[in-house]
Amino acid sequence: MSAIRVGVIFGGRSGEHEVSVQSARSIIASLDPNRYEVVPIGIDKTGRWHVGEGARRTLTTGSSFVLEDGEENQSNSNVPDASAQDTAVVPRDAVHGVDVFVPALHGSYGEDGTIQGMLEMLDVPYVGAGVLASAVGMDKTFMKRLFSVAGLPQVKYTFFTQKRYEHEAKAIKAEIESTFGYPCFVKPANMGSSVGISKVKNEDMLDSAIKLALRYDNKVIVEEGLDVREVEVGVLGNDNPESSIAGEIVPSNEFYDYRAKYVDGESALIIPAPLSDATMDEVRRMAVAAYQAVECTGLARVDFFIEKNTDRVILNEINTMPGFTRYSMYPKLWEASGVSYQELIDRLISLALQRHEEKRRIVTEFTLE
Ligand SMILES: Nc1ncnc2c1ncn2[C@@H]1O[C@H](COP(=O)(O)OP(=O)(O)O)[C@@H](O)[C@H]1O
Ligand SMILES: [Mg+2]
Repeated sequence: MSAIRVGVIFGGRSGEHEVSVQSARSIIASLDPNRYEVVPIGIDKTGRWHVGEGARRTLTTGSSFVLEDGEENQSNSNVPDASAQDTAVVPRDAVHGVDVFVPALHGSYGEDGTIQGMLEMLDVPYVGAGVLASAVGMDKTFMKRLFSVAGLPQVKYTFFTQKRYEHEAKAIKAEIESTFGYPCFVKPANMGSSVGISKVKNEDMLDSAIKLALRYDNKVIVEEGLDVREVEVGVLGNDNPESSIAGEIVPSNEFYDYRAKYVDGESALIIPAPLSDATMDEVRRMAVAAYQAVECTGLARVDFFIEKNTDRVILNEINTMPGFTRYSMYPKLWEASGVSYQELIDRLISLALQRHEEKRRIVTEFTLE
């Protein structure tokens, strides 16, 4: 059998460009060269697509990050030699000859259904959630509404648009204070990696936190701030999703902000999370329910809070394209559950091919007989 050509798409226009480059590096380094041929496809911060040398350059230099030990030295021996030209291409041309795509993109234009929509239009298989689940998973207000329909426990919250805040700031602040008060978390509704998120401890900090969040989205969500432990579960599958064991994050900062996630390297991942058997079962069950509530396919990491003084389990969010470096929580959870990094990628690729195949059955045009 000839090698499956895997188009790994990385970078992108979102605030999570660098994280995406790191995920792509790990994925590319572990795709078995005997089975897969890698086609790196880099999207720069202006949204232009690059293949060949342009894509390779983004892979090797496109990150402002200090790489984890050893990662930068891994050779990508299964990346075919590319022409020396910097080839910016239109997306349709990047798709040519690729059997399956791995959109290793996080955040806006990557994890939010937009690129998934483009890949649907091009009728090509791709790893992960489809348009709907991606979009819902990216918008914290819609995600919360669907979780609530599924009866899943969540924190109290409110949300508003930039336009409404312009005209009704006073009423909005009063609503926040009367429904849950401080501390509260102010977040852009569509973002990720904790970008634009503030923990607000008093009224004086509220306005600047809202303005910061509004830099990243036209819609802001404000949540009751609880004193919590943070637990995450991996989910994998299409129709019969399976859950990994849960892991716990112990952030190096006051909360799991961007610095604690990616910069200082001091946040601890504890796998398995030290939970009672009953709580472990509960989060794993709830993770699958959250996955199904948004009709997710492929993979997702489902994140929970456990309130410190009550041990109450609360669903925080679903991430349809979780960090995917070798050191990221999602692959590590699966590794601890008996699925190696390499096997995980194999399974994701076959889930993608399977889903595309199943869609073929569907008739898209209707002819009156
Ligand atoms: N309501 C909350 N109560 C306590 N901590 C929170 C709350 N919301 C967010 N946090 C903290 O902020 C982090 C980022 O918030 P999250 O909603 O997960 O955003 P992102 O999608 O950017 O990961 C969480 O991991 C947690 O540390
Ligand atoms: Mg999160």
